[in-house]
Amino acid sequence: MSFDQPADDDDPASRNRLHVAVIMDGNGRWAKNRGWPRLVGHRKGAERVRQLVSACPEIGIRYLTLYAFSTENWKRSTEEVLGLMALFERYIKREANRMSREGVRMRIIGERTTLNPKLAAMFDWIEAETACNDRVHLTVAINYGGRDEIRRATQAVAQKVRDGQLDPDQITDAVIGGHLDTHALPDPDLVVRTSGETRISNFLPWQAAYAEYVFTPTLWPDFTPQEMSNILTEFELRERRFGGAK
Ligand code: FPP
Repeated sequence: MSFDQPADDDDPASRNRLHVAVIMDGNGRWAKNRGWPRLVGHRKGAERVRQLVSACPEIGIRYLTLYAFSTENWKRSTEEVLGLMALFERYIKREANRMSREGVRMRIIGERTTLNPKLAAMFDWIEAETACNDRVHLTVAINYGGRDEIRRATQAVAQKVRDGQLDPDQITDAVIGGHLDTHALPDPDLVVRTSGETRISNFLPWQAAYAEYVFTPTLWPDFTPQEMSNILTEFELRERRFGGAK
């Protein structure tokens, strides 16, 4: 297979491989509580993203995956959808230099082909621009849905079977994982959701099968690197058995 695989566990450069995924929820409520438009909450949320990414090496996060726009979020008002898309574009433009300075590799997952071509081209650009960075792996899920991702992967695998490149018996978990948008990433160790909601909302259902979950009442625009650090301290105390016995 020609997929780029996650770095080898034994590689000393990748000793610290913690992967934390975050469902950033509560921007709208944060703004509403202050009588402000929802987009102000998203803007504040983008500032929190910037802070958290910069704090990752200190906190001990190597892979940070953020849920920024789901396949269901298109149901929101046109103003909010366009505002969010503009925010993603601005974030990439403004943060490109800092990401290079801080060794951040940025990837975008989700269905890209149906997005505005200018935005999709910007995603291609930032991925290429930061491709050599390895200190922090920032992945942002935009137009992402877990079932949609699995459907697209299944279609790609089925196509290979039809073309005679793959036998059905050869379809292993690794083959399916290798066709997901996250094929270059390790599975998340921990999924955090802010704002008190206790759903996973179609976020990384395949990849997070063995992840730990933490739900915090904090609204995303109030979520600090310090809170993430506290959550990790708690996470380290949990015993992960991956289905095995004690
Ligand atoms: C959920 O809160 C949040 C979103 C749908 C958008 C997340 C986007 C950001 C944090 C902004 C920037 C991100 C990047 C990567 C630059 P909500 O609006 O559903 O909140 P509510 O449940 O209180 O209404």
